Amino acid sequence: MDIEKKVWEVLCSEEEIQMRTRELGAEITDAYTDKNLFVVSLLRGSFVFAADLVRRIDLKLKVDFMTSSSYEHGEESSGTVQILKDIEEDLTGFDVLVVDDIADSGLTMGCVIKHLKTKNPNSVKSCVLLDKPSRRKVDLEPDYIGFTIPDRFVVGYGLNYGDYYRNVPYVFVVTDQDR
Ligand code: IMP
Ligand code: MG
Repeated sequence: MDIEKKVWEVLCSEEEIQMRTRELGAEITDAYTDKNLFVVSLLRGSFVFAADLVRRIDLKLKVDFMTSSSYEHGEESSGTVQILKDIEEDLTGFDVLVVDDIADSGLTMGCVIKHLKTKNPNSVKSCVLLDKPSRRKVDLEPDYIGFTIPDRFVVGYGLNYGDYYRNVPYVFVVTDQDR
């Protein structure tokens, strides 16, 4: 499908995302004040959200990145999650917050949390910009959620469509209508 020719419906505007990110940043700041926060951002989808979120967390913290395989080109999850790039640092003594763009089946977040727990951190929690709970295949409830959304394929603000459109500053869905 050539999405350039379709109508784009804004699901979360730039202003809404900014406001919600500010709220989440404040909540996380409160929750981690006496902790040792280590943010793990999942590439590539969460790079925009993580960059905005960490600047709303008013604490001394570390950031590192992981890459796991997910469905980059199609609309269906493969059901298997592979770690392609692990974090570089030791997590002993840290309180880890895994940041991703979206929890869909929950397989990615579930697998990453399980993997990071083997690295001896104090705690591991999760934060997603978007949550699609209706699609869950595993028992996973993100600790911090930006927006709960219906079962639609979403694009923008880090989320890709056929490897493009990650730079669109808002989250949108593609409708059936032609522009
Ligand atoms: P899960 O493992 O099924 O929860 O999927 C998580 C990953 O799939 C996310 O990190 C996204 O990269 C990708 N994903 C899930 N839903 C969408 C979507 O609606 N648009 C773009 N990417 C998505
Ligand atoms: Mg992803």
